[in-house]
Amino acid sequence: MKKKVLVTGGTGYIGSHTVVELQNKGYEVIIIDNLSNSDIAVLDGIEKITGEKPVFEQIDLANLERLEAFLSLNPDIEAVIHFAAYKAVGESVEKPLVYYHNNLVSLMNVLACMRKFSIPSMVFSSSCTVYGQPNKLPVAEDAPVQEAESPYGNTKQIGEEIIRDTIKSCEMLKGISLRYFNPIGAHPTAEIGEQPGGVPENLVPFITQAAAGIRDELKVFGDDYNTPDGTCIRDYLHVVDLAKAHVAALNRLTEGNNKKDYEVFNLGTGKGVSVLEAIKSFEKVSGRKLKYSIAGRRAGDIEKIWADPSLANRELDWKTLSSLDDAMRSAWDWEKRIRNIES
Ligand code: UD1
Repeated sequence: MKKKVLVTGGTGYIGSHTVVELQNKGYEVIIIDNLSNSDIAVLDGIEKITGEKPVFEQIDLANLERLEAFLSLNPDIEAVIHFAAYKAVGESVEKPLVYYHNNLVSLMNVLACMRKFSIPSMVFSSSCTVYGQPNKLPVAEDAPVQEAESPYGNTKQIGEEIIRDTIKSCEMLKGISLRYFNPIGAHPTAEIGEQPGGVPENLVPFITQAAAGIRDELKVFGDDYNTPDGTCIRDYLHVVDLAKAHVAALNRLTEGNNKKDYEVFNLGTGKGVSVLEAIKSFEKVSGRKLKYSIAGRRAGDIEKIWADPSLANRELDWKTLSSLDDAMRSAWDWEKRIRNIES
């Protein structure tokens, strides 16, 4: 019998790519999403790739009664991969209570239900934002967590602590928090991808939208950082590689013989890439010149960060396989498809 996995936020960007990888590996996926930042049509994209439409239920996880009612009718779920959360850094500064309420109440409701319905395994979508600007690069999991730059970042820090403490208090629960670096790109079929509402805050969707003519020019936020070309450095990884790490984490929880109840893993390539290098990669794979200009620094930006992914490489038997160019190409293919751009 197929193992059943609940994926919250499964119609979102990283969630949908993870659903595909889970189905490819023979899991039966149930998605819960409130569609606040995603489209139901994502389910068709998933089905086109895998030939299988996941079970879908539109529920706001902040509504405990509805979640309980749904789970009481859906027994035998073995694990939860919890993506559902708001993620816009700027918006979280404007609306901290909305972020704390949505991200933390949802997480606590999910954990309460895991206890109530004896669902033993949780994979949590965390972020390298918990490290702030690390003193040592590449950054490993034992680096100190720094005071969060935004309420969004704080929900990831607090979320990890809530999970750790809940697992400590409950014999049957196990969990893994995955700290993502910068996921980019789209599925190689271009059937699913990243589709931010409004003006994208993140670099790659802004680049592809600018190239598609939807945005004017890209503003490069600062070229006076202490980096080789003066622009900020990040660790960009292909979203399909990232999705596969969730399957590896799930396998570790449900099949592995590791004795640890709660673990944290960095997910990145281990390679730092500057904003200007990212632009060059895009120009190379798309054959288009990108319009951009240098603007002032963005408040709260980290100068440079990239992962030490060796723990995940070793313990999850996972590593990134795609290059920056592959990821950029897939992001551009996706943008072209949804905007009906020929080539
Ligand atoms: C941001 C968040 C991070 C969050 C992640 C979610 C901040 C400080 N960090 O990460 O907490 O987990 O999004 O996806 O907001 N850039 C430009 N012009 C643009 C957009 C971005 O130059 O129009 C630059 C940024 O300065 C940065 C790089 O591109 O150097 C990547 O930016 P972005 O995609 O927003 O990711 P992070 O800042 O790493």
